[in-house]
Formats: sequence, structure tokens, C-alpha cells
Amino acid sequence: MSVVVIGSLIIDNTIYVQRIPNHGETVFAKSSLVSFGGKGANQALAAHLSGTDVQLIGCIGQDSEGDQYKKHLKGNGVSTKFLLHSNKYKTGSAFITVEESGENSIIVNPGANQEITPDHIDNYSKLIAKTDILLLQQEIPEESVKYACSLAKNCNTKVVMNPSPIKPTFNINDFPCDVLILNEIESEQLSGHKCPLKSIEVLGRLGVNSIIITQGPGPILLKHESNNTLEYSPPKVNAVDTVGAGDTFAGAFASALSEGIQIKEAIQFAGTAASISVTKPGAQGAIPSKKEIESFPL
Ligand code: RIB
Repeated sequence: MSVVVIGSLIIDNTIYVQRIPNHGETVFAKSSLVSFGGKGANQALAAHLSGTDVQLIGCIGQDSEGDQYKKHLKGNGVSTKFLLHSNKYKTGSAFITVEESGENSIIVNPGANQEITPDHIDNYSKLIAKTDILLLQQEIPEESVKYACSLAKNCNTKVVMNPSPIKPTFNINDFPCDVLILNEIESEQLSGHKCPLKSIEVLGRLGVNSIIITQGPGPILLKHESNNTLEYSPPKVNAVDTVGAGDTFAGAFASALSEGIQIKEAIQFAGTAASISVTKPGAQGAIPSKKEIESFPL
């Protein structure tokens, strides 16, 4: 029952606005927040809070942000023993706007996250071989993610791939994985189809065992093996900040799967976790515990 996450650690600088300004326009913010983020660390914390043993492989700068990040992870029970310190780059940062609707836009300055190379990942081949699940995103160099996927495949470790942020050149054949988690925008980019039901049918032919498409508050779609597409409705909530909801989903899902929970139940668990996460500000401060998820009224 363990998950290894290889991914980014980022300091999020979030501005809450009524709406994003147009070009040349200035608007006033309602509030701002500096918090811990990065898809890798968000997913690692979500998997940990969902009750699984998690190891996070990542890179921070040799700066006060990096030190604070380590303290924060340790304080939340996430091991920092596989974190590298870059002497070339600063800790990654992100600049995020969240509109009144809860919708967000993000610009990432990757910084130290660029230092995760295939050679570095190679140092952890035994850890990857031993774990139940390897969980990946795309805020570290692409060749490193590809390398991690093939390393895991060679030792039969299950790979859960969340290729976010997705690049126009993304080709799933280069990223051997067992589960592919996409949001509706990413699924459209990959399949060329706007309709998520059509999209999942097309993506279902790519040879990945399970494909999941999340749609914010809309139904989560699952195409498992060659079965018919199934739909799960996440609980309805009032969204105040959607940053990190996809990461909460991926981390909680990987945790449930690593515990041997069936994919359908794992999706329901993760969907509830993601719904809870949008009711609070910030990425990591909003991630619920296993107890909160299990006791959430459905
Ligand atoms: O998925 C949300 C995350 O994306 C934020 O925490 C931000 O750091 C960006 O990487």
C-alpha cells in the first residue's frame, strides 16, 4: 500500500479577483494568498491524507522557500528524504488568479523542478520497483516523465498518469501507463473531440487500460478495459477555489487504488475528495483527510 510521486513543488502566489482583467485593463483584487503548491506535491499530500504511505521525489531551491516547503511537508507527515536541492535554480513559483466563480488560470515558473532528470530518477529505480503505484504529472521535464513511465513498466509497477499541464505534442505512446487521468480540456486536446463521451471512446482505443475524464462539477467518466463508459456524479458543493482539485482527485485516487480498492469505488472516493477541496482556498490547505472524505454526506 504505497504510492511514489515524482513531480513538482511550487510556491503558489494567488490573487482572488471578481474577474480576470482584459488586456490593458487594471482591476482590484479582493485578497491574495501565498501557499504551497505544485502538482507533484499537491498529489503527494492528497495521497498521504487519504491514508497511504507516500514518497515524493522532487526538487526545491537552496532558498528560504525551499526550506519552508520542507518544513511544511514534514509538519504534514510527508517524507522529504527524496527531495533534491538545486544550486542552480530557485524553488518553483506559480502566479494564479481565481475568479469569483472559483475558476482559475495559472502561470508556472518551474525553477528547480527542471532539475529532475532521467539520471536522477534512475537513483530511485528500486523504490519505483517496490511501490504499488507510480503517480506522475508534467511539471518536470518531459523526458524524465517518459523515463519514469518506462522504468515502472519494466518492473510491473502500476503507473497513474495525469499529463497536466498537457503539451500539444503529447503522445501517449511515449508514456506507457495503466491509468490516464484527464480533465475535459485535456481530453479534447488529445482526442480532437469536444464531446467528452466521444472523446473517451476515441482515447479508449489508445491501449491504456483505464481512462478517466473529470469535468469539474460534471460527471466523471471512466472507460475501463473495453467496457462501456461509466459515469459518476461527484457531490454538489459551492466552489470558492478550484486550484488543486485535479491534484486532490489524482492523489486520492492513487491512494485508494494502492489499497486494492476497485477502480469504480476509487473514483467515487477521489471525486468526493476533489469536491470537498474546492470549498476552501488554496491547493494544499484544501485537501481533505480520509476521515473527512468518508464522512462527507453524499
Ligand atoms: O494543479 C494546481 C497546481 O498547478 C498549483 O498548485 C500550481 O502550483 C500549479 O502547478
